[in-house]
Amino acid sequence: MTRTDDPPADGGPPAITVEVCLDQSAWSTHLAEETLAGLRDDPPWIPPVWFYDETGSALFDEITRLEEYYPTAAERQILTEHAAEIAEVTGMETLAELGAGTSEKTALLLDAGEAAGTLVRFAPFDCSEEVLRQAAAQIAGARPSLTVHAVVGDFNEHLGALPMDGVCVLAFLGSTIGNMDPPQRKGFLAEVAATLDADDWFLLGTDLAKSEDELLPAYDDSAGVTARFNLNALSVINSELLADFDLDAFTHRALWDHHESRIEMQLVARTDQTVRVSALEGAEVSLAEGDHIRTEISTKFTPSQVHRELSDAGMLVEHTWFDDRERFMVTLARRA
Ligand code: AVJ
Repeated sequence: MTRTDDPPADGGPPAITVEVCLDQSAWSTHLAEETLAGLRDDPPWIPPVWFYDETGSALFDEITRLEEYYPTAAERQILTEHAAEIAEVTGMETLAELGAGTSEKTALLLDAGEAAGTLVRFAPFDCSEEVLRQAAAQIAGARPSLTVHAVVGDFNEHLGALPMDGVCVLAFLGSTIGNMDPPQRKGFLAEVAATLDADDWFLLGTDLAKSEDELLPAYDDSAGVTARFNLNALSVINSELLADFDLDAFTHRALWDHHESRIEMQLVARTDQTVRVSALEGAEVSLAEGDHIRTEISTKFTPSQVHRELSDAGMLVEHTWFDDRERFMVTLARRA
């Protein structure tokens, strides 16, 4: 399904195009089915997509400003120092970004592309049409010389809808790739490689493995913002899937899984309880006190692992950049 906005009345080219590849009601059904499957798994889990309603997005924003949550500051440092170099090395004409693309880090890349004089188009890609339309309007308003071509899609299926004419940099920042498990990453990276033309680039932000002493506070901050962020997923499911989760009956927990090199966020049941999810065939989930629901994994990489996964997917690493404490890495790769 594709829909493009009407051109303005003056007949000039539209500054914003929104291409809808994802039918929002089919997507809702897909998420409901995935959630049902997750809740029936042992241990139960829910997809992290439920974090990001308006409240959750505001809480995530607050997380990124916490002293303890170092990834945002570390990646920002890298892009502040190297965005001009990225623009110069790539000659980017289109910046495509997975995620709605209103972050400060996106702005650094857009500034660099505009300063280099090559950038003509911004192409944000997101699964939420509403979020994407707001972001597209915001960027188009602030940068009148850019064309905005937004794509509403699922990044395991619709990357092909991104406008890839001219030199394109496809950015996936913030270590969001860490939410995927190894088979998901493999499938996703293969999609990315298949989307890139010979003169295009993939720009990937990854958080790096480090000591538990640094990792745990980033996911269990002293002000309790991450705990509220985690619990909010239940209230989103309550309203979206007509469930009756009692938020007071769960506690936030973050664990470091050394073997898998990832943080696991969980919600732990404080009492024996049965939760009903009316929109999911009236499914009931029974939890005993101490049982948990996994809400997110956040993988922490080594540089060589990122290198290997990219090359296994058919990409070649051209550059890697680190923050001064080597907590985070940004990688620029192209098709092999
Ligand atoms: C947005 C997925 C990169 O994994 O660090 C922050 C989300 N979860 N605190 C991450 C998150 C808890 C974040 N990502």
